[in-house]
Amino acid sequence: MLSQNELKQNVAQAAVDYVLPLLGPDVIVGIGSGSTADLFIDALAVHKQKFRGTVSSSERSTRRLEGHGITVFDLNDVTQVPVYVDGADEIDAGLSMIKGGGGALTREKIVASVADQFVCIVDESKFVDCLGAFALPVEVIPMARESVARRLRALGGEPQLREGFVTDNGCVILDVAGLRIRQPVELEAIINNIPGVVTCGLFAISGATVALMSTQDGVVTLKPKA
Ligand code: A5P
Repeated sequence: MLSQNELKQNVAQAAVDYVLPLLGPDVIVGIGSGSTADLFIDALAVHKQKFRGTVSSSERSTRRLEGHGITVFDLNDVTQVPVYVDGADEIDAGLSMIKGGGGALTREKIVASVADQFVCIVDESKFVDCLGAFALPVEVIPMARESVARRLRALGGEPQLREGFVTDNGCVILDVAGLRIRQPVELEAIINNIPGVVTCGLFAISGATVALMSTQDGVVTLKPKA
């Protein structure tokens, strides 16, 4: 029986195998955040001579990349990112995701939006029929914490401030429990429209292009089902 960490290592290696044919001397790779993304960074580092550098979605990933001697570019200096690789807290059959368990959701969504494809790397524990058992992270401008929380309660959620946590953007996170998210695209748009919300941790309007999911029997490739 493989441990969760071994499952994550397997999918990180599968992601490197997926990305290798896309690499070249001018290529910039988009890098996500979290424990699975950390393992991807470590596995990608073996091939660091094969691409130009990266754009990163968090200070944490930037430190890890630079620790491997991989160049991290400012996104403002980059026009093309062929592939973005990142984990998720939950993913469904349509490849809509909940992200932001590590609090990096805003930069993740920005970097993902620039990339030609989003490769989501998960172990099988992240695959769900319906998103929402994992409390939905929402990044909020601090002065709007209570007004946004009221709006989220009106949507049926139970928002809780992530105590003692400040994002890389100087904002706070509300983790919203109690949502059974049957229409992720619609809910993402509704939450994005609440004044004071920086980013909603639903990645559904633009979901993953492909998911690599690590199971006890190997890594399987998932394409979005309508
Ligand atoms: C970071 O903010 C998140 O979006 C991560 O991608 C997500 O929480 C998955 O993290 P793990 O790979 O650590 O489970």
